[in-house]
Amino acid sequence: MQTITDIAALREAVARWRRHGERIGFVPTMGNLHGGHLALVDEARRRSDRVVASIFVNPTQFGPGEDFQSYPRTWATDYASLQRHDTDLVFAPGVEAVYPHGPTLRTRVEVPELSDILCGASRPGHFTGVATVVTKLLNIVQPDLAVFGLKDYQQLLVIRRLVQDLSLPVEIVGGAIARESDGLAMSSRNAYLEPAERERAPVLYRTLCDLAERIETGEADFERLLAEGRERIREAGMTPDYLEIRRAEDLAPAGAGDRELVIPAAAYLGRARLIDNVRVSRP
Ligand code: PAJ
Repeated sequence: MQTITDIAALREAVARWRRHGERIGFVPTMGNLHGGHLALVDEARRRSDRVVASIFVNPTQFGPGEDFQSYPRTWATDYASLQRHDTDLVFAPGVEAVYPHGPTLRTRVEVPELSDILCGASRPGHFTGVATVVTKLLNIVQPDLAVFGLKDYQQLLVIRRLVQDLSLPVEIVGGAIARESDGLAMSSRNAYLEPAERERAPVLYRTLCDLAERIETGEADFERLLAEGRERIREAGMTPDYLEIRRAEDLAPAGAGDRELVIPAAAYLGRARLIDNVRVSRP
């Protein structure tokens, strides 16, 4: 497995593969890799001849006071994991390589509306940072396909939309949510949970599953379902940021005729902000 930190060298390595007609799959990450990230690498592996993963803790998607400085950086174990999962190349640029003029964005990629709701409402500027760095990474690597997790459902939609709107020649693949055995969605930020908090954390997913089941069996009073769901999350010691029932396609409020739905949620628990979602089809 090669490690490359320089953009020109990365382009050269990928161009060589492309000249041989090889199909390139790409998995962007911020490192501190867990089973969720590695399942995306496996998905890219199944669909491509060469797999590139990136590790870059992107400063422009963290708000002031968020955990950019303390975000876990675990290069040695990440490297070993990627090697075990048959990655061909890991791209690990420094901040100066990605942002030569410093991480204050002048040219930026905005995906309005979709970026302003749910996670975007509590993290202003977050999705602009994500959209900009993902556009840059896709331009640098120029993969045939890139895999993103359904765990960050809103992020996946933002990326699909920017790829469509900017006509980027890449296929975006959504990878299933990897969970711990008690249902908690895997996340680098789960490490922030104290043991007692960790025990309560699966209530978030259980609540989403219960709501999904009730919608599937025909319950239609969403406001009541959501009020009960938020109460259950509060009873488990979490502070709900949002819990909603939305249209799966674009996260717009679900109308009476919409069948394909998603229930996205975010909740604060100790030092962590947990996010999760389940998709549901209405009868
Ligand atoms: P990061 O949080 O490191 O996540 C990298 C990728 O792994 C994302 O596509 C995310 O959705 C996916 N992922 C995380 N936890 C997952 C889980 N439990 N199951 C399935 N997939 C999971 O998301 C980012 O980094 C950044 O915003 C990035 C896209 C790299 C841009 O900086």
